Amino acid sequence: QLAPAAAVGNGTPEPVVAAEPQKLTVLYGSHTGNSEGLANNLAALAKAQGVEVEVSDMASFKTRDLKKVTNLAVLVSTHGIGEPPVQAEELYNFLHSKKAPDLSHVKFSVLALGDSSYVDFCQTGKAFDAVLEKLGAQRISPRVDCDVDYEDQAEAWQQSFLQLISQSSGATPTADAKSNTTATAGKPKYTRKNPFEATVLEKINLNGRGSSKETIHLELSLEGSGLQYEPGDALGVYGTNSPSLIEGVLQETKLSAEELVQGHNGEKPLLEALTYDYELSPLSSVTLTKYAELTGSTRLQSILADNEKVLEYLHGRDVLDLLKEVPYTLSANDLVSVLRKNMPRMYSIASAQTAVEDEVHLLVSVVRYQAYGRHKEGLCSATLADRFQVDDKVKVFVDKNTRFKLPANPETPVIMVGPGTGVAPFRAFLQHREVEEHTGKSWLFFGDRNFTTDFLYQTEWQQYLKEGVLAKVDVAFSRDQEQKHYVQHRMLENGKELYDWLESGAHFYVCGEAKRMAKDVHNTLKEIIQLHGGVTAEKADEYIKHLQVANRYQTDIY
Ligand code: 2AM
Repeated sequence: QLAPAAAVGNGTPEPVVAAEPQKLTVLYGSHTGNSEGLANNLAALAKAQGVEVEVSDMASFKTRDLKKVTNLAVLVSTHGIGEPPVQAEELYNFLHSKKAPDLSHVKFSVLALGDSSYVDFCQTGKAFDAVLEKLGAQRISPRVDCDVDYEDQAEAWQQSFLQLISQSSGATPTADAKSNTTATAGKPKYTRKNPFEATVLEKINLNGRGSSKETIHLELSLEGSGLQYEPGDALGVYGTNSPSLIEGVLQETKLSAEELVQGHNGEKPLLEALTYDYELSPLSSVTLTKYAELTGSTRLQSILADNEKVLEYLHGRDVLDLLKEVPYTLSANDLVSVLRKNMPRMYSIASAQTAVEDEVHLLVSVVRYQAYGRHKEGLCSATLADRFQVDDKVKVFVDKNTRFKLPANPETPVIMVGPGTGVAPFRAFLQHREVEEHTGKSWLFFGDRNFTTDFLYQTEWQQYLKEGVLAKVDVAFSRDQEQKHYVQHRMLENGKELYDWLESGAHFYVCGEAKRMAKDVHNTLKEIIQLHGGVTAEKADEYIKHLQVANRYQTDIY
């Protein structure tokens, strides 16, 4: 039997009475592969400790096997907008349904991944944690909610979980248990925690004069970094806060720029900490919560009691708005203690290393707007647009995305839907397919506001069409006419052919805005399958599910 949780960490673990070797089931639900990577890592370490391990993505796991589970580790991410990963949906629904079994024979712990700038932070992990408990399972170590910089917390959770498992299993560590740290061997030198300083080689605004948008094409040098990426991976980028916003915060708080505060790694002047280490824009729910606690503001507390109100309050505001609206005399350390750590932004990489070698290209939509009487901008996109010029250095790292990959078979056709900056990874796909001479057909759906100013990479697509790298391109310019034309309208017009491509084994990819575009595209895909497959809505859902399970329908949405 398992040792009580209190026994953890009290020196040499006493082997618990000859328990039979236990089994560990590791289930993950991953959006981009981070939970998957952590799950495999946990499984490897547990195996090395002599524990019998089964690791599986949630979609492939048979729910009837739940009765055989004794120890369970759940690693699951939440999409920014609060949704469970596709892989997790079925198990999630099953556990919440009337069919859910009694799980009192299960001992579990949950590692939740998420992004604390969103209100529904780690929502999926929280729900799994709650439903497992409700079904009678025993939580052996507390759930850990990880933010974008998940490594340290994930490792701490893993260590405590493994200790509990190995104590209870009475298992004998295998030879490679000593190389417990093997997971760190072969890791890239530059990581999220230790980013590479990449030189800006080129920076171009791809939108023409008079466009309502500003989309930057950026080329960075990775020379000497040893960093490797594949089409579909993302680049993490650290931005800085705008000097005028920092100035506003200093004036509002009457704090001195030189005063020493706790920064990311050690003490430093407030100005430096506010430039690099903390986020001033947008306002995050963590900061709102901490500021409400600090100030005791009843107004903020009543907002925090209602998720809808929180969303509404955060929208368009930054830290300076909050400081102005709820004035409070705070110390410099108070200020930084309520701020969210400066988190890297992930951009889908717009180039293939097979084509550009030591370079990495990004496509960045610059966020600027007016709200609450002041000019606002996206911390990272404005950094790249305004504060970094050619020859400057940007802190970056590669963020693998194992859930957005070209088909393994070069002959497989691909359909790519990428309006706006969503087209970025498809530029990487096509560069790679050209260099590697893939023979599978490629079809691109692109959309943006206006043809004359916003046709990103137009000449490249035309060249690819000429060379046969692209078989088809369909475009939708939403604001060139009275009625909105979107990519999904082009899909529907080409429904028969799109369905035929799917039937011939094509992979279907969507990249871009999550809330509306990706949903509309999904519904249109379903409509096409119903129409041209001649099936009911239920059957079309099943068809889509099959595509997803076979990794033939992949999304990279934000
Ligand atoms: P809009 O801004 O004119 O509404 C890239 O941002 C393109 O995606 C723009 O043309 C934008 O159109 C469009 N877009 C906005 N909402 C969309 C949706 N729900 N489905 C597809 N495209 C959408």
